[in-house]
Amino acid sequence: MKPSCSKCFLYFLIVFFLCNKSSNAQNATTDPSEVRAINSISGQWFIYPLDQWNISGEPCSGVALRQSDSVFEDPVLGSDIRCDCSFNDRTVCHITRLSLVGLHRQGGIPKELLDLPFLTFLKIDRNHLSGPLPAFIGNMSRLEFLSIAHNNFSRPIPKELGNLKKLHTLNLSVNNFYGTLPPQLGNLVNLEQLYINSCGLSGEILSTFANLGNLQVVWASDNAFTGKIPDFIGNNWPKLTSLRFEGNSFDGPIPSGLGNLISLTSL
Ligand SMILES: *[C@@H]1O[C@H](CO)[C@@H](O)[C@H](O)[C@H]1NC(C)=O
Ligand SMILES: *[C@@H]1O[C@H](CO)[C@@H](O)[C@H](O)[C@H]1NC(C)=O
Ligand SMILES: *[C@@H]1O[C@H](CO)[C@@H](O)[C@H](O)[C@H]1NC(C)=O
Ligand SMILES: *[C@@H]1O[C@H](CO)[C@@H](O)[C@H](O)[C@H]1NC(C)=O
Ligand SMILES: *[C@@H]1O[C@H](CO)[C@@H](O)[C@H](O)[C@H]1NC(C)=O
Repeated sequence: MKPSCSKCFLYFLIVFFLCNKSSNAQNATTDPSEVRAINSISGQWFIYPLDQWNISGEPCSGVALRQSDSVFEDPVLGSDIRCDCSFNDRTVCHITRLSLVGLHRQGGIPKELLDLPFLTFLKIDRNHLSGPLPAFIGNMSRLEFLSIAHNNFSRPIPKELGNLKKLHTLNLSVNNFYGTLPPQLGNLVNLEQLYINSCGLSGEILSTFANLGNLQVVWASDNAFTGKIPDFIGNNWPKLTSLRFEGNSFDGPIPSGLGNLISLTSL
């Protein structure tokens, strides 16, 4: 038994190594409509060419094929792109992750993002984006991570955001929105992290939010929220580890149900 198993393992290693090599081979090319979209976005956005990002050539080459995620995790700075080149027998690449942070870009969200239909991760924090968050953001249906923090978006949050059912992280914090939370956000049942601190929002925390049973982090401080802190938090959000509600205008006491939250470590 033992010798044949170690042979198996060796075989596995070789196959793994070969597969890995061919996945990095430059036979695969980016979907042409995505090349047009990313070139148009980079033409509008970049104030300087980004390090090792093949802007004018094949976007899914160089840095875009790296395994390391460090820039995506950096909260302050960083522009980065990642592709998945495993489509159509490893001949087609799609752009899956995009981070355009701290570029001092003014204006709105570019509509060309809709031509990157495989995006799962979009981070455009710390620019000077303003105007409404467009309803078409609700068509980016593969998004799992959306962060637009530290911009100057205004007007109400579009209800179409509630179409992004795959979202696990939504960061709208430090913007200039107006009005109440749209009840449709209660459709985002996969949401684990919700950041709506310093967003300009008012009104009550809606009963539809009781559906968000996977929430672990909820930062909603420094808005003008009113009404009671809902009882459902203690009953329906069992995974909560971090809850921030300070700096609002809630009435009445903290609900006793919060005592149910055994994972809660910061309040
Ligand atoms: C690249 O494509 C060519 C022609 O389609 C094929 O012959 C070759 O084996 C491919 N190379 C790799 C590394 O997949
Ligand atoms: C950039 O893309 C071009 C193809 O348009 C390719 O020839 C070149 O090798 C790429 N550069 C890098 C650093 O991958
Ligand atoms: C977004 O999706 C809706 C519904 O599928 C569609 O009617 C609309 O035209 C789309 N918007 C854009 C800008 O593609
Ligand atoms: C934010 O946008 C508003 C208009 O909605 C504008 O009056 C204000 O100057 C902007 N603030 C910054 C810091 O850009
Ligand atoms: C969301 O934005 C806040 C800034 O208000 C930041 O502290 C936090 O790390 C961000 N979270 C994610 C997951 O991007």
